[in-house]
Amino acid sequence: MRPLSKRTDVFRESGIRSMTLNENYAGAINLGQGYPDFDPPSALIERLHGPGVPHQYELTPGSVDFRNALAKKQERSLGRPIDPNTELLVTNGSTEAMMAVLMTLLEPGDAVVVFSPYYENYISQAKLLDASVDYVELNGRDFSIDFDRLEDAMRKRPKAMILCNPSNPTGKVFSQNELAQIAALAEKYDVYVVTDEVYEHIVYDGLEYVYFQTLPGMWERTIACGSLSKTYAVTGWRLGYVTAPSVVIQRAKKVHDFLAICAPAPLQYAAIAGLLQDRRYYDDLTRQYQRRRDLFTNGLKSLGWEINVPQGAYYVLADISRFRPEGDLAFCQTLAREYGVLAVPGYCFRREDRTDAVRFHFAKKEEALTEALNRLERLKPR
Ligand SMILES: Cc1ncc(COP(=O)(O)O)c(C=O)c1O
Repeated sequence: MRPLSKRTDVFRESGIRSMTLNENYAGAINLGQGYPDFDPPSALIERLHGPGVPHQYELTPGSVDFRNALAKKQERSLGRPIDPNTELLVTNGSTEAMMAVLMTLLEPGDAVVVFSPYYENYISQAKLLDASVDYVELNGRDFSIDFDRLEDAMRKRPKAMILCNPSNPTGKVFSQNELAQIAALAEKYDVYVVTDEVYEHIVYDGLEYVYFQTLPGMWERTIACGSLSKTYAVTGWRLGYVTAPSVVIQRAKKVHDFLAICAPAPLQYAAIAGLLQDRRYYDDLTRQYQRRRDLFTNGLKSLGWEINVPQGAYYVLADISRFRPEGDLAFCQTLAREYGVLAVPGYCFRREDRTDAVRFHFAKKEEALTEALNRLERLKPR
């Protein structure tokens, strides 16, 4: 048989998802792949089981009602009017949103700037498009930006930079000042900024979340990918969206059409109940995640783990060097098999094949987090 495409041979399987897929770890508490173990708000479920649920193809850009509700939500976040007909596109999760956007922007050979550590999908998606990635390392415990290094990358005229904020896996929430400096460089070197904002509502300690699109002059060059997955605990519904100027949406809509035709009709219909939630819902979401974060990070610290305490999203990067492992993958395999806790090896978020970190997520019921901490207590440094 003739060989399969080279393009699909240049990246590895997702390290995040492969931990979940490994059936040997079925009994372990999954702090690997980041999805909640609790249900979505009851309003979504009721609508899903109620009358009038559509079962056929939806409009390619998303149902009219969904886009109208989404436009209102986005208007509140961005403080500007959003045209539901021309400035929004509903996709199969933010994953498809990101792919459709990158396909809309990039020619083969174009470069994309990505902060490292990064969410692994960006790299594989860039490779699928024969684009190259320029990695800009974030430094130190607070993952600060070396702006000289970023400017070096921007000077090479990449077509786009991807900004994950709040960031998976670092938990960093970029400050207004950092975003303003990124914006200045994007402007100076004429680079699109593709934002991944799936954790927009999961921010701790009263920190203010700044939408990149709201910075002066940035609406025109920002393409924002968002999702319902994390905000309404519906990662399996595969609903995401793009918010961008109409010229970009018009093109991305064609790409989305030929990738998927539309996002799932019944789930768009039911998820409107999420988009229509008022402020109290988001405040409550933040409060609950804050409790989970505090419980889990305090627990890890009291067991002697060196970790970064996230400012946003729901991940912790934990140092494993004191266990002297045979690598982060081997460590995660032992952790899953012998201690019943799934984590993701740090190499999934870096260019290196081996790191001295693992990532835990804490989108779990408090009982599960407490049980995971009990299991981790048995693990002793070597
Ligand atoms: C940073 C980031 N972006 C995107 C996704 C995927 O989002 P979706 O479920 O909307 O495809 C995830 C999932 O973990 C994520 O962490």
